[in-house]
Amino acid sequence: MTKHLLDFIDLTPEEFDHLYQLCEKIMKHPERFVHAASGKVSASLFYEPSTRTNLSFQTAMLRLGGSVIGFSDPGASSVAKGESLKDTVMMMSNYADVIVIRNPWEGAARAASLYSRVPVINAGDGGHLHPTQTMADLTTIRKHLGRLDNIDIGLCGDLKNGRTVHSLIKALSRYPNVRFHLISPRELKIPDYVRKYMIEHNQKFIEITSLEATIDTLDVLYMTRIQKERFTSESEYNRHKSAYTLTRAKLSSARNHMLVMHPLPRVDEIHVDVDDDPRAFYFQQARYGMYMRMALLHELLKHPQETPVSVAIGGSRCTNPRCITQCEPYLPALEHDGCCAYCDKELK
Ligand code: CP
Repeated sequence: MTKHLLDFIDLTPEEFDHLYQLCEKIMKHPERFVHAASGKVSASLFYEPSTRTNLSFQTAMLRLGGSVIGFSDPGASSVAKGESLKDTVMMMSNYADVIVIRNPWEGAARAASLYSRVPVINAGDGGHLHPTQTMADLTTIRKHLGRLDNIDIGLCGDLKNGRTVHSLIKALSRYPNVRFHLISPRELKIPDYVRKYMIEHNQKFIEITSLEATIDTLDVLYMTRIQKERFTSESEYNRHKSAYTLTRAKLSSARNHMLVMHPLPRVDEIHVDVDDDPRAFYFQQARYGMYMRMALLHELLKHPQETPVSVAIGGSRCTNPRCITQCEPYLPALEHDGCCAYCDKELK
């Protein structure tokens, strides 16, 4: 099993399958796991707001018999005094057996992993990736459609900034015959590196602006919020907010078996009148997230603590203004396939 979970594709399909089976066992017999993490401590470092990810990780650790430390307001930690990510992570990995981190900068979890003695889990890094949400998403699809291949999935909303979408596309690109219907305003289309990933993996995808044009062909409809916090101006956000609203009336043309999913929180993109439709799975999806996080913690806690390999200090060549290297200048420049290894943006 991978030591760190920074990107969903750090897990092989076999490792995901193993976690899925373990998740099923935990759901069926939670009483068998109540001491599984006894004596272990997780550190939740949340530099950004969260309800589901933070509290489901904490609940997961407590349900395994472990304990939790951390912060959900960096302003109440020494981050407010100017402490770097590196120093905070080095401290936390002295205290805890696993670190769960959410940070607004893209690539922050990978940066944290360079300095940690213990596994680091990416709980969301800016608009980049959110791998444990993908674990909840795939669990929902697999349990309720019975497969992860041969599906038509519509992803609708802010596909540029929605990190759950980026992780989910990368994950599903590993399965055959997945057809992506990418529904967004033109200005909020998927980032280039995600498009490139689908092309490299021979995935079929269309990019369109109308939900109504495609809803009747889908097995899964994955709605997302317009990510207000990623816009640089209020007026730009106002132009796009409420771009899509799924209502019960719009669902009338959808297939009976279609799953309506959403990583949550929602604002207005799914009307409350959809909640009682049997196709609405978003609250169930969040519940699976807790059990999947139990399975993940259970496996990652098996790793022994190791002193991290020292990394040379060096300037970063990444020009993405949202990349973690912009605000933590000591980070070494890291590259993969011509892209920044932290944020995946192409290095010019
Ligand atoms: N899905 C998700 O990441 O929700 P939170 O922001 O509440 O953690």
